[in-house]
This record gives sequence, C-alpha cells and structure tokens, in this order.
Amino acid sequence: MPVDLKAVTRRPPEVVKVRVKRFHPEKGQGWWQTYEIKTYRGMTVLDALLKIKAEVDHTLVFRYSCRMGVCGSCGVVVNGEPRLSCQTQISEKATPERPEVVVEPLYNFPVLRDLTTDFTEFFEKHRKVRPYLIRLDKQERENPALEYEQRPEELEAFYEYTLCISCGLCDAACPVYASNPRFLGPQALAYAYRYLADSRDEGWRLRLEELERDGSVYRCHFAASCSSVCPKVVDPAGAIQRLRRALLAYNLRLFKKRTAKNVEPMKVSAERWPLPPEARLMEGVDLEAQEKGAPVIPKEKLLED
Ligand code: SF4
Ligand code: FES
Repeated sequence: MPVDLKAVTRRPPEVVKVRVKRFHPEKGQGWWQTYEIKTYRGMTVLDALLKIKAEVDHTLVFRYSCRMGVCGSCGVVVNGEPRLSCQTQISEKATPERPEVVVEPLYNFPVLRDLTTDFTEFFEKHRKVRPYLIRLDKQERENPALEYEQRPEELEAFYEYTLCISCGLCDAACPVYASNPRFLGPQALAYAYRYLADSRDEGWRLRLEELERDGSVYRCHFAASCSSVCPKVVDPAGAIQRLRRALLAYNLRLFKKRTAKNVEPMKVSAERWPLPPEARLMEGVDLEAQEKGAPVIPKEKLLED
C-alpha cells in the first residue's frame, strides 16, 4: 500500500494507546501490553515504538534501520494490516473516536521476540529462484569487460520488480503462504519474474524448469492481497500470472526471449555547455579560468580570507 501522504498533515489524537503483542522466547508465552503515549504531528508507528522504548519500557524489541522505507526491516502488522512501521502515520490509524493503534509481529513468520520475526525461511525461498543474472558464456563471466545492450522497453518490462525491498509484507498478507509451507510466496516469485523478464538474463530455462517442478506458481489462488499491501507498489500477483503464462508457453515450446548482446562499452562524448551568466558573476570564483585548468578560487582570494 502506498504511503498515505494526507495522513502526514493530519494531527493525531493527543494521547494514543499503543497495544503491542509481545512474546518472550524464554517465558515461551505471548501477552498483550498497552502503553499510553503523547503524540505529535508526523509521528509514525516506528516513532511511537522508539518513544516507548526510550521513555517507558526498554525491554520492548522491534527491528528497524533506515527509518525511510528503504531497508524493508521494520515490517509489522498495524491494526490488522502488514505495514512498514516507519511509513505508517499514527494519524492514519488512530482516530479521536478510537485513539488506539494495535501492533503485532508480521503474520506467517516465526516470532523471535516481541515484534521481531525470523526471515531465515523467507531468504531460503528467495535464494531458490536464483535472484541474480545468469549468463551462459563462461568466457564472458570470467572476463566481464563488455556491456549489455538493453533497450528502454526491455528495462520497462521488469523495472517495477527491481523496486522490491524484500520487506516480506506480501508474504505476511498471503493466505496461501499461511497455509502451505511449500509455497515460495509472492516475494520470491516476484523476484523470479524480475529475472525472467530481464533481457540480460539467460537463465530462464533453469528457472522455469525449477518453478515447474516446485509447482509454486500454480498454488497461488490469486487473492491479490500481496499486491494491495506492497509499500513499493510492486505487483507480485501480476508477476505470478505472468510466470504462469511463461510456463505455459515454455511447456508448449513457444517461449521466446530476446537476450541482450554483449557489446563494446559505449563511448560517451558530451559537449561542454557554456556557463550561465550568473555562474560567471560568482564573487571571487573564476569558473571560466577553472575551465582552462586554473584553480576555482584565485590564490590572492584565498590569502585574503
Ligand atoms: S513485493 Fe512489495 S511487499 Fe513484497 S517484499 Fe517486495 S516490497 Fe515488500
Ligand atoms: S526502517 Fe527501513 S523500511 Fe522502515
């Protein structure tokens, strides 16, 4: 789900109850804990958790890193919906009528402690689809001196899938992932499609045969909840449908793909643009002289300062 930009401008209720589902591995049991915190405009669920940890209860455990929707490590379930805690405004979830935010660990993942979940199996499944470019020419692999030629429309075919940050929200929302441990899950399948659709990749036979053997592509019931929760607006459900189509074509021996050629590096020659008048007028800085190799700030000017 994309970020609700309007929520950033709304003021959340002044005091909000944050109900956290907790778990301690040594106690071996879970419990709910409620904290009351003062909020401010722009406060995210991650800010609220950090405030609780700093001011109320330092035993609360959760994961985060970038705080800006890039690393994908802060996924939790907020009011029943898998979300990145750093991208979810308190004002989006808590209203004056119900000033409460319920935070749980991601569904479908083993809980390590409180809100942190174990991604070991997730990354094992990720690795299974070979999430990297495969080239068949050994010589080329060992001496990668050339470039791949890729057309803009070929980049467009898979670009959306490169935006995936492996946060696991789609797997947490998937009903098949919840009930069938053999299902690779929307994230891994979206990655499989990302490389299948990349014109630089030559591993499509390997990948398609493995997906056919594994049967994951056929296990999807197309609930599409994966695509609706994705914070990067990737469409894993669409990728699974495209993989099905590719597998069908492959089994009928109709699958075709143009593979990018290895070409000499492009020679880039750019003409120098004339300096804009305001740049020429910068006090004490002789940009025109610098063009001819002289220092940007004249020596006399440096000594003056
Ligand atoms: S597809 Fe979206 S929800 Fe799934 S792991 Fe990638 S970024 Fe997260
Ligand atoms: S902390 Fe990195 S995505 Fe939220």
